[in-house]
Amino acid sequence: MDSLQQWPEPVVPVQSLSNAKTIPSRYIKPPSQRAAGDAASTVKNIPVVDLSAAATAKAISDACREWGFFQVVNHGVSLELVKRFQDSWRRFFHLPMAEKRRYANSPATYEGYGSRLGVDKDAFLDWVDYFFLHFLPPQLKDHNKWPSLPPCLRETTEEYGVEVQKLCRRVMKEMSAGLGLAADCLQQAFGGEEEGICIRVNFYPKCPQPELALGLSPHSDPGGLTVLLVDDNVRGLQVRKDGAWVTVEPIPGAFVINVADQIQIVSNAIYKSVEHRVIVNAEEERLSIAFFYNPKSDIPIGPVPELVVVRYKTVLCRSMSFDEYRLYIRRKGPRGKSQVEALESSIAS
Ligand code: OGA
Ligand code: NI
Repeated sequence: MDSLQQWPEPVVPVQSLSNAKTIPSRYIKPPSQRAAGDAASTVKNIPVVDLSAAATAKAISDACREWGFFQVVNHGVSLELVKRFQDSWRRFFHLPMAEKRRYANSPATYEGYGSRLGVDKDAFLDWVDYFFLHFLPPQLKDHNKWPSLPPCLRETTEEYGVEVQKLCRRVMKEMSAGLGLAADCLQQAFGGEEEGICIRVNFYPKCPQPELALGLSPHSDPGGLTVLLVDDNVRGLQVRKDGAWVTVEPIPGAFVINVADQIQIVSNAIYKSVEHRVIVNAEEERLSIAFFYNPKSDIPIGPVPELVVVRYKTVLCRSMSFDEYRLYIRRKGPRGKSQVEALESSIAS
């Protein structure tokens, strides 16, 4: 696992490139991968689910089958806390570079301040800086690895994590019911109450040539489900739907939730993890915070037996622990849905 101990070349924070007139060639995507090269995005927005309404299991289940993405409103997390959390991280990214670089990360665990995903030398890079931290399990959580400034950040992140974990457990129940399973079935398939949680704070600086770059290349998230707090004012997230890219219109105060690969696997691909990417712009920076809700990392994760139908149905036959699974994206960087699709084997008859 030597290749994961250090970066193949010095890491350049994207923020330090933001005021130039042009971007370095490593950030210039081949024409076929540029956002401008795609057919105009449709205006459709991802589904919105009101968590205070009746029949949420049906609404969530429909969204997980058709889109893999939805926004939730009336989710029960205090908006004051959400603002405080967002604000403390925005302040972190505006601290002097020397302060942020105290937390410079390595590919061994990815914890800390970083600017790349993947360890291939000379790879194309995305226009984003980030901070990555572990929230659960308790033995991986280390407040000393979280920024000490601004002073409120650790406490606020702790409070936010507790609240959003509750939201995730609730959504897991609704997703389970939406598959016709007992409410605790998906949670049990994830290892019960020993789930893992990581947080990735994404900071997309202004980009002088936004049409040539991407903030985040197309990928599906490797974990269970993701609760994304997007910037209320700056769009950027795009979701793949029927081959086109749909730009998410943020609803102030809402969360964007998406199915990630481990839910696709336990649901035997009834729920789909969906490719998404981030576009950047020249006018405004953008902050988003991804809360990754993951299974216990050292147990085999495979389809729930009730959902495996052998005839005329794709079976995801291979189980793998999340510890093994996430090494792929850590080595290779974002690569669409290639990893989860490689686990599928089709039993056609
Ligand atoms: C991610 C992600 C989207 C965004 O961090 O995995 O997809 O809008 N982020 O920043
Ligand atoms: Ni993502």
